[in-house]
Amino acid sequence: MAIVEIKDLTKKYGSLVAVDNISLTIVEGEIFGLLGPNGAGKTTLINILTGLVKVDKGTIKAFGQDIGKNGDDVKRQIGLVPQDLAIYEDLTCLENVSFFAGLYGLRGRLVKEKAMEALDFVGLSEKAGQAPKKFSGGMKRRLNIACALAHSPRLIIMDEPTVGIDPQSRKHILNSVKTLNSRGCTVIYTTHYMEEAEDLCDRIGIMDHGKIIAMGSSNELKSLVTDQSTLIVNLSSPLERVNIDGLKEIKGVVDIWSDENTISISSSRDINNLDKIISYFSSNDIHIAGLESKSPNLETVFLTLTGRKLRD
Ligand SMILES: Nc1ncnc2c1ncn2[C@@H]1O[C@H](COP(=O)(O)OP(=O)(O)O)[C@@H](O)[C@H]1O
Ligand SMILES: [Mg+2]
Repeated sequence: MAIVEIKDLTKKYGSLVAVDNISLTIVEGEIFGLLGPNGAGKTTLINILTGLVKVDKGTIKAFGQDIGKNGDDVKRQIGLVPQDLAIYEDLTCLENVSFFAGLYGLRGRLVKEKAMEALDFVGLSEKAGQAPKKFSGGMKRRLNIACALAHSPRLIIMDEPTVGIDPQSRKHILNSVKTLNSRGCTVIYTTHYMEEAEDLCDRIGIMDHGKIIAMGSSNELKSLVTDQSTLIVNLSSPLERVNIDGLKEIKGVVDIWSDENTISISSSRDINNLDKIISYFSSNDIHIAGLESKSPNLETVFLTLTGRKLRD
């Protein structure tokens, strides 16, 4: 069943098109990932979904209802974990979660009980009486998540919940997303980390410049580029001293990307051109420090579709 239906959605900031005519359906029970670099429009799309940003064009239905008309009713069934921490540093954890639970419509003695449950879920029950002021980034992130959970939403939206935190908290957060989902909660998860999208998501929409440029399971997305393999050449001297134009002439080479010390060469799988590539480097006196052959991952998919890296 469709839990969210987005049709022809466009949002502009002046002349910048932050969300460009997106249509998208989220199915109940799935973890849907929005994967894209900074500035792709992920947060804008999320904020539109939760009614925080007005659209210029298009419609959004959640739980079968138009969010423009039945905003409050819809919002009670959604939990939003915003990209920028939204917690009160001077309130205790319990007060923070209870406050947001109240905003989402929870009332009476249930509030404290549910707030404690949410804190327990993110591993912060022992800190319930403490204010997050001196917490680590990871603990603050977990509190931020608990604030969106106490009212037991049907749909939870997490906007880059693991940016800039320690590996242990990251693992904790990724596991809690899986647990929430196994309990029946639908999840929309935005990230610019392709490993997270690959690990977590049933379906992924790759976003760039306000558009969803490809959508499907991780395997489906990878199959878009499986007729290619990528060779990564590490150089011992910086690239600006090296002319690689001739590489494009080698049979089978489809695309080349480079950054400071590496050149990524993608070739058709059915043509073996490794010898020619290596001899190109040696005949041009370019020293190769290392070679790596990569099977496609979501980074490769993004590179192939856009010519750019996911992370800058
Ligand atoms: N309130 C705003 N005013 C003007 N431009 C904005 C605003 N919010 C976002 N943008 C621009 O819209 C684009 C998409 O931003 P955003 O949705 O935050 O992307 P992401 O979350 O994928 O990093 C960016 O170019 C950003 O600078
Ligand atoms: Mg964002």
